[in-house]
Order: sequence, then C-alpha cells, then structure tokens
Amino acid sequence: MNCRKIPLIILLILMCSVFSLYMIFFNHGPPEEILKTNLKKSAGKKANEDVDELTDSEIAWRKFIKDNNYVAIGTLWDSCDGDKDTIGKVILLPDKQSGGIKSRTFVNVTFDEEYNGGELGISVKYNGKDLYDNKWDFCSIDENEEEEDRQVFCPYKPGFHAWITDRKVPKYLPKGTYFSKTWLTDGDGELVACGFSEFVL
Ligand SMILES: *[C@@H]1O[C@H](CO)[C@@H](O)[C@H](O)[C@H]1NC(C)=O
Repeated sequence: MNCRKIPLIILLILMCSVFSLYMIFFNHGPPEEILKTNLKKSAGKKANEDVDELTDSEIAWRKFIKDNNYVAIGTLWDSCDGDKDTIGKVILLPDKQSGGIKSRTFVNVTFDEEYNGGELGISVKYNGKDLYDNKWDFCSIDENEEEEDRQVFCPYKPGFHAWITDRKVPKYLPKGTYFSKTWLTDGDGELVACGFSEFVL
C-alpha cells in the first residue's frame, strides 16, 4: 500500500463518519416529510379524545386549521386548567426562505382590563427530558430587536387583539420529539394564557 495515501484515507473515513452522524441525528429530511409525520401524530391523538367535551372555541379553532389545511402542533388557552377556552393554535409550515420549517402561532384574545405586563415562561422537553427553561419580562421581551421586528407593544388596551408570530425551527436541532409549555401572567402574577406544543423532527 502506498503510504502517502493514508492521510487521504483517514480524511475520507472522517468525512464519511461526519456525514453519517449528520444523517442519523440532524438531517430532518424535506419539510413535506416533517409536516406529514406531524399531521399523522395529531390525527392519532384526536382519535382518542371525546368529541363531546370540546369547547365551542376549540371547535372554531379546529375549523380554522382544517379549512386552511394547516398542520396543528399546539394549542393556547386562557387558563392552565379547569374550564378553559382556546385562544389560539400553533402550526408548522415550510419556511420558504430557509428551506426548512417554521412554527406560526395564532392568538385571538380579548382583554377585560388593560394588560400592562407580566412574565412569559417557557419550558421545553426533548424526548421526554428537560431541555430548556426560561422566563422573561413580557413587555420588554423584544426591546433589543430592530424596530420592524418588534411585536410586543405594551400596554394593551381592553378589547380584542389578534396576533400572528413566526419562529424558525433551527436546522441544528437534533431529530426527536419536542414538547414545550408556555404561560403568561399579568402584573399580579395571575395566569392570562397557557399553551403547549409538540412536534417531531
Ligand atoms: C381570529 O381573529 C381573526 C382576525 O380578526 C379572524 O379572522 C379569525 O377568524 C379568528 N379566528 C378564530 C378561530 O376565531
């Protein structure tokens, strides 16, 4: 064997290993595949639920998802437990810009009183294990963003508000199941919104 070829062979083996690792753990496949997998997952969940127990608000939001052929991965409510109304949905969409996927959150909320701040919390589990927890002061959450990217403008007047927010799903996330819980409080620490989302990469 020609000894001068050894570094080349090592390099090739290294490149093959890196490529395999990438394919096994990080290559999410085309966006259409990810959407299909998540659609199946949500259909599987729906098969086990009692349709009679759905609230009118949940039915209205599901109709919105169905009419638009969206892939829903999460729900937002006006409370974390007990009697709660659906105030929004999280969906998965192809991200035309990056070629990957993104989440889009729709929220329709009616505030009885002016909303002037509180805490936004999130906790994320990856394959059932705690991955990430954080809390922010809601009203100042995006004050360092460029003016045109800002979405939060406190205080919010009493009455109806509709929000649509997009978040890119980073390509460096390893494959697996991601579950996240989000909650928002007001100035007195009372919960004003609660939500969850779950998707598979
Ligand atoms: C949410 O609000 C938007 C804007 O007013 C409206 O078009 C949409 O139908 C509402 N969605 C639901 C499910 O109520």
